[in-house]
Amino acid sequence: MTEENVYQVADWKGQSGERWVTYQARLDAMMAAFGQAAIEAAAPATGERVLDVGCGAGASSLDLAARVGAGGHVLGVDISEPLIVSARARAPQDTPALFQVADASSTELPEGAFDILFSRFGVMFFDDPTAAFAHMLRALKPGARVAFVCWRGMAENDWVRLPLGAMKGILPPTAPPDPEAPGPFSFGDQGRVARILTAAGFTDVAIAPFDASIPFGKGETRDAALDDAVKMTLEVGPLARALADQPDDIRARASAAVRAAFAGCPGERSVMIDGAAWIVTARNPAS
Ligand SMILES: C[S@@+](CC[C@H](N)C(=O)[O-])C[C@H]1O[C@@H](n2cnc3c(N)ncnc32)[C@H](O)[C@@H]1O
Repeated sequence: MTEENVYQVADWKGQSGERWVTYQARLDAMMAAFGQAAIEAAAPATGERVLDVGCGAGASSLDLAARVGAGGHVLGVDISEPLIVSARARAPQDTPALFQVADASSTELPEGAFDILFSRFGVMFFDDPTAAFAHMLRALKPGARVAFVCWRGMAENDWVRLPLGAMKGILPPTAPPDPEAPGPFSFGDQGRVARILTAAGFTDVAIAPFDASIPFGKGETRDAALDDAVKMTLEVGPLARALADQPDDIRARASAAVRAAFAGCPGERSVMIDGAAWIVTARNPAS
């Protein structure tokens, strides 16, 4: 096994994107509270224009579109074609949201066009985040707002800490990834996030913790919910990638270990697992 196996980067243009399409409804339910908190921080008003970065299958874009109304506009951009296809398919005909396959860090965006730069967990994957945010800033109107939600560190997020911790003795130990390398936890250090946004040209940066319990598994009984949570963990996310090429016996041991690790999480017909995020707001200087 190579070093990066437990922490393989998400392949958004390929399998990771396809898995997210398959589990879109589940993932939307899991991230709903975080997305709503970011939308409240963005405070979209009727008629405003919003850029949703890494929009995925479009749940947040469509919520934002409902908030800005017919006189407003939402542009959802994502590098994953299957996710954009899925977003377009679920969009009501009269929505003011448009979806585009594009790398937000480099694609040509209309200059000075948006009132809000928004993202639900879609801005942690840039190779050069400062350059990416500087690029996106040019698409904003003077005084425009930024609001996004990103994960805090892996150690604070039980939905990944518990299953990866349970792999001790099953998968060979690997060095943790560079905390600044592109990936879900690369914005875990709030000082780094503030430095990136400030260096990119943003002002009024504010970063607040937001915690929520994530519905990881659901079922008619607690046992069924635990099975469901384990299935989800083995299908999507860091452990799914780590186990992708493993033989059946390793997968079976991993599955049992994850089940034991989740057994202490609360929930009756569910498995609720702690998630820890930052809600980040900032502003394009007025002129
Ligand atoms: C964790 S998912 C979140 C998706 C969506 N915002 C949601 O909450 O359902 C991260 C998304 O960011 C997208 N992404 C990663 N890098 C990107 C980039 N450079 N430009 C645009 N989208 C990107 C991925 O394809 C993926 O859909």
